[in-house]
Amino acid sequence: MKIVKTIPELQKARKELQGSVGFVPTMGALHHGHVSLIQKSLNENEHTIVSIFVNPTQFLAHEDLSKYPRKPEADIKICELAGIAILFMPDVDTMYCPLEPTLLAPSSKAYILEGFSRPGHFDGVLRVVLKLFNLTKPTRAYFGKKDAQQLYLIQNMVKTLFLDLEIIPCEIIREDDGLALSSRNVYLNHEQRKQALLLSKSLKIATRCVMAGGRDVEPIKAEMLSTLSSLHVEYVEILNRDFDTLSSIEIGNSIILVCAKVGTTRLIDNLWI
Ligand code: PAF
Repeated sequence: MKIVKTIPELQKARKELQGSVGFVPTMGALHHGHVSLIQKSLNENEHTIVSIFVNPTQFLAHEDLSKYPRKPEADIKICELAGIAILFMPDVDTMYCPLEPTLLAPSSKAYILEGFSRPGHFDGVLRVVLKLFNLTKPTRAYFGKKDAQQLYLIQNMVKTLFLDLEIIPCEIIREDDGLALSSRNVYLNHEQRKQALLLSKSLKIATRCVMAGGRDVEPIKAEMLSTLSSLHVEYVEILNRDFDTLSSIEIGNSIILVCAKVGTTRLIDNLWI
């Protein structure tokens, strides 16, 4: 595995790779969810590139970028053991320059849900992901379904900017008790971790309603909200796969999304039905 930090080093290492390249962009603090993306990329491509970059442009001014979990040594070991070809770990000045055109995510899809409480977040995500795609020139890039809105906006960018790569959506990885893996779970204490299970529980209840033939969105949202009543809920939504509102669930084309705060930790989860 080559660990590269600068653009010329990355470009040189990338040129040496022949055949298909899978790319897994991350912000580090790697957990089993990331490992499942890396594993899928290794299975489906001749080479895999992973990036670790805590991207400042996707954090809002009041969000503490310096508190984002960082575990570079453990991350390097995980990537090495997995058998990837290149690990790209740039610093901020390598990735950004004061004079550069910016990219804006389509506001009707990027300023709702996650983007409503984090306005501008997805502009920063698209900006860095486009740069990373330009640098790594992947055949395929791997993103988790847990960040469903991010995945949608990246797929939309690839399609509308005619980028020549395939986006591979990857399943949400959960603990045995249902908690979706997230780098933010480290912020939860024992009691908060128990409360966090209400997110996946609310999705299970929604599944049960749908399996019992329920299709109307409002009563299902109401059931979910009552399950989540002890938490500070930011949103519960049922949308189609293009993130448009629905009055009635369309099986095979709907996503149920939930976001709630447990203590000060904002958690998200979702279910594709
Ligand atoms: O999902 C993430 O970890 C980040 O948003 C990404 C895609 C690596 C861009 O910084």
